[in-house]
Amino acid sequence: MADRLFDMVVLGAGSGGYAAALRGAQLGLDVALIEADKVGGTCLHRGCIPTKAMLHSAEVADEVRNASHVGIQAELTGIDMEQVNNFKKGVIDRLYKGLSGLVSARGVELINGHGRLIGPGAVEVAGQRVEGRNVLVATGSYARSIPGLNIEGRVITSDQALTMDWIPQNAIVLGGGVIGLEFASMWRSFGANVTVVEGLPSLAPNEDPAICKALERVFRRRGIAFKTGAMVKDVSQNADQATLQLDSGESLSGDVVLVAVGRGPNTAGLGYEEVGLKMDRGFVLTDDQLRTGIPGIWAAGDIVPGLQLAHRGFAQGIAVAERIAGINVPGLIEANIPRVTYCEPEIASVGLSEPAAKELHGADAIETIEYNLAGNGRSQVLGTQGFVKLVRVAGGPVVGMHMIGTRIGELVGAAQLIVSWEAHPEDVAELIHAHPTQSEAIGEAFLDLAGKPLHAHP
Ligand code: NAI
Repeated sequence: MADRLFDMVVLGAGSGGYAAALRGAQLGLDVALIEADKVGGTCLHRGCIPTKAMLHSAEVADEVRNASHVGIQAELTGIDMEQVNNFKKGVIDRLYKGLSGLVSARGVELINGHGRLIGPGAVEVAGQRVEGRNVLVATGSYARSIPGLNIEGRVITSDQALTMDWIPQNAIVLGGGVIGLEFASMWRSFGANVTVVEGLPSLAPNEDPAICKALERVFRRRGIAFKTGAMVKDVSQNADQATLQLDSGESLSGDVVLVAVGRGPNTAGLGYEEVGLKMDRGFVLTDDQLRTGIPGIWAAGDIVPGLQLAHRGFAQGIAVAERIAGINVPGLIEANIPRVTYCEPEIASVGLSEPAAKELHGADAIETIEYNLAGNGRSQVLGTQGFVKLVRVAGGPVVGMHMIGTRIGELVGAAQLIVSWEAHPEDVAELIHAHPTQSEAIGEAFLDLAGKPLHAHP
């Protein structure tokens, strides 16, 4: 390996790293991809994909519970966690096989082992030196905890939660962000009593306030308890249960405490500081082109400050490969990266929330509208409540779209096009949305904003 000079050496084969490798190879670059574990990283093996498979099982459980309502005789007699896990594994295995095949078909040199940056163009893996004209570091993230709280026994993160072969009776979820909401929703559908503890004043605190309120209403109705504005003082555990002491003096006990308070960058001990990368609290700092400041070293994915999402990693990895191949690619607009939380009801958003838009453009310059799913036929068939909220600069483009409802996540593609293309309501109001689909709710919201709502009360 020492006498071979790659065009691009990629450290980490998660979403950011493997996307860069595949795109680089497509552009004719000679690419080495270094991975200690399996190609696909957190998203495929311990994140996006396994959780969505389990959330699908959870959705089926809810459907069976409600089957008689739609005239189907069925009875939920239990949840077979072994089969839930087999189903999940089947999905991962098929995707992993496909991805591995793709990496090898594109001629990417996959090197299995734990790599470490040892110089601007060099990574060491198992005593070997792998050299490249460019190095992309994309080593991802890990589930972090809060100071003084060790992950052990009944105190777990999503890593352990995804491998559980039992359903908790009483689950405490620490953190009402994306991971916390998805597990709370899933465990509730599987029959657990769930309490979410969130330090900020609402669940899903990064979403538009209207979404937070609507989510809290449905969670209440689903019997998911939550404490917001609640800080944890102490956690203890014994053989049977774990107990959370809150600042308020209240204590909560469960057979499991899921810690979902964010993910930290995976950058320690990888040689980044030694080589001179600029770091901030463990994250690698880059310019908007993802250059680190050390010539030939690039960074992508969860180690770069910003939204820690697989599709951001894909986009960044692709952009780095293209830049290395000499293509001029503009930087990403973080606010326009679509976001979906796959709890029930799903949350999907793109662009600015109402408060963020008001801060940026001034309160008087912002108009909003909410179209309620009560007027949407398909949503009524699915039995979901929710809405589509548009945030618009008065007389100008739509700068934010926020949606909540069963299966609403699939609409995020349309929302992303509208916001990214800076569409004006009049442009979208002219388009025809198929009836009866949930996407009609977007059409209706735009008709409303254009002053001619069809299925809406004045
Ligand atoms: P998060 O940042 O979304 O949520 C963490 C929550 O914990 C925040 O609301 C925060 O206020 C709260 N928190 C932090 N410290 C606390 C404390 N001491 N006491 C009480 N509450 C506290 O992080 P999360 O949910 O762990 O997810 C990690 C990353 O993974 C996120 O960037 C997320 O976007 C990504 N992810 C994305 C998914 C998706 O796109 N569907 C699914 C799962 C994860």
